[in-house]
Order: sequence, then structure tokens, then C-alpha cells
Amino acid sequence: MQIVRSGEELAAARAELQGTLALVPTMGALHAGHMALIDEAKKRADRIAASIFVNPAQFGPNEDLARYPRREAEDARMLEEAGCDLLWAPSVADVYPDDFATKISVAGVSERWEGEARPGHFDGVATVVAKLLLSVRPDVALFGEKDFQQLAVIRRMVQDLNIPVEIVGVPTVREADGLALSSRNAYLSPDERQRAVALPNALKAAREAILAGSPVGTALREAKQSLVDAGFLRIDYFAVVDAATLEPVDAPAGEMRLIAAAVIGTTRLIDNLPLSDFG
Ligand code: PAJ
Repeated sequence: MQIVRSGEELAAARAELQGTLALVPTMGALHAGHMALIDEAKKRADRIAASIFVNPAQFGPNEDLARYPRREAEDARMLEEAGCDLLWAPSVADVYPDDFATKISVAGVSERWEGEARPGHFDGVATVVAKLLLSVRPDVALFGEKDFQQLAVIRRMVQDLNIPVEIVGVPTVREADGLALSSRNAYLSPDERQRAVALPNALKAAREAILAGSPVGTALREAKQSLVDAGFLRIDYFAVVDAATLEPVDAPAGEMRLIAAAVIGTTRLIDNLPLSDFG
């Protein structure tokens, strides 16, 4: 696996790659969730590229940019073993030189939920993902359903800007007890880690209740109460949304998603489940 840092090195390495190319963008601290994207990428393209870039533009001023886990050597080993051909790991100065002035903002789908809780977050994501896609020029790029709204924002941007790439969503990889794998799970104390499972459990319970005919409002209220009972300190949202537009849905309609974000200790967790067989 070749590791490149600068835009120039990337362009040279890209020109050498024959056949179709898949890109898996990441912020590193790789786990089995990221590796599922690599595995899916292998099924869809001849060559695999990954990027590791902890993107300052998508972190708010009081968020975890400084403490975000960084372990590039281990990440590179995992990628190489998984059959990745190219790793792009640029510096902040390389992605955002001093005179960098552009911001991509996706209206609508990015405004609620994560967009409301983390102002500017999706502008940072959209801008960096556009830059990654335009620099690497993959045929296909893979993103996790774990970050469901992010996936919807990226689909919207790629469609609006005619970026010539196929966006593929990959189902969430979970721990044995159901907690979605996340680089941020490393922040949880052992006690918080045990209680964190209340989040996927609340999503499952809400899905079952809704599928059994319970009113959406009642199911969501009970789910939120179960998070409070488990010691979550703040629930940013727990909602049923349209899977494409992320608009809230209160009666059965089309493809839907249960999405949630809540804080345990000092760690903010997000998760979601499909609800498409409802109705
Ligand atoms: P990061 O959090 O490192 O995630 C990289 C990719 O892995 C994203 O597409 C994310 O949805 C996916 N992923 C994370 N946990 C997963 C899990 N448990 N199962 C399946 N997929 C999972 O998301 C980002 O980085 C950034 O916002 C990025 C897109 C790289 C832009 O900076």
C-alpha cells in the first residue's frame, strides 16, 4: 500500500492506478465499522483508496478535535492487511492552505438534527468530502449508515454538483451487545460503556412498538424515558424521519429511519435504525 501526503504525491499515485477505484474517506482510529467499508469497496472496484484526515472544519469550537484519537501507524497496518492500495493522509495545511476560501453548504437535509446540534458541522463535512472526491476521482465512494444524515447530505451534494461518483451506504457494524462501533466509544468509562447499550436498545424498542401499531409519539416518548433511566444526561433528538430528506414523519410514509443522538458522561453518541417495513 502506498501512503501519500501532498496533493502532488496523490495525483502521481492516482495516475498509476489502473481499473476502477473505490474511495473510503475516514478520520482514522479505524475499527471494524471502517473495515466493513473497505470490504464492501473490494466487491465494487478493482483498486481501493482510503483517506485519513481529522477534518478541523467539521468540529465545533467546544468539540473533541484536540482529543480525537489519532493512531495512523496502526490504521495503515489495518488498511494494508485489508488490501487497500493507496492511503492519502494529508496535513491540515495541505487540505486548507492559508488562502482557502470555499465552503459547500447543503440546505434542507443538513439543517435539522446533527445540523442543529452541531452548527457548521455539515458544511465542514460537505466541503472536505467534495475535496476528497475531486482529488481522488474514485468511481465509487463508501460511507457508513452509522452517520445516516451525513450519508444523505453527501448523496444530495454529489447529485446537485454532478460529481461523477457512485455513493454507496454500508450498514452499521455493532458490538456484540448492539452498541454501534465508533471511534468516540474510546471516551466511555467502563460504567458508561455498559449503560451506552441503552441507546441501540431504545431504538430497537421504538421500532418494535411502532411496527406493532403504537403511535409514533408514544413510542418516541418511551424510548427517550429509557435513555434518561439509563443515565443519559441529554437527548439531542430521538425521531422518525424520511430516509431521503431527513424531515420528521409522524404517520407511516415511504422509507423511514429512526435516528437518535444523546450524551452519556461527556460523550455524545449517535445511532439509527431502518423503519422501512412500516405501514
Ligand atoms: P469517520 O467517523 O472516521 O467515519 C468514516 C466512515 O466510517 C463514515 O462513512 C462512517 O459512517 C463510517 N462508520 C463509522 N462507524 C461505523 C460503523 N459502526 N459501521 C459502519 N460504518 C461506520 O465520518 C467521518 O469519519 C467523516 O465525517 C468523513 C466522512 C471522513 C469526512 O471528514
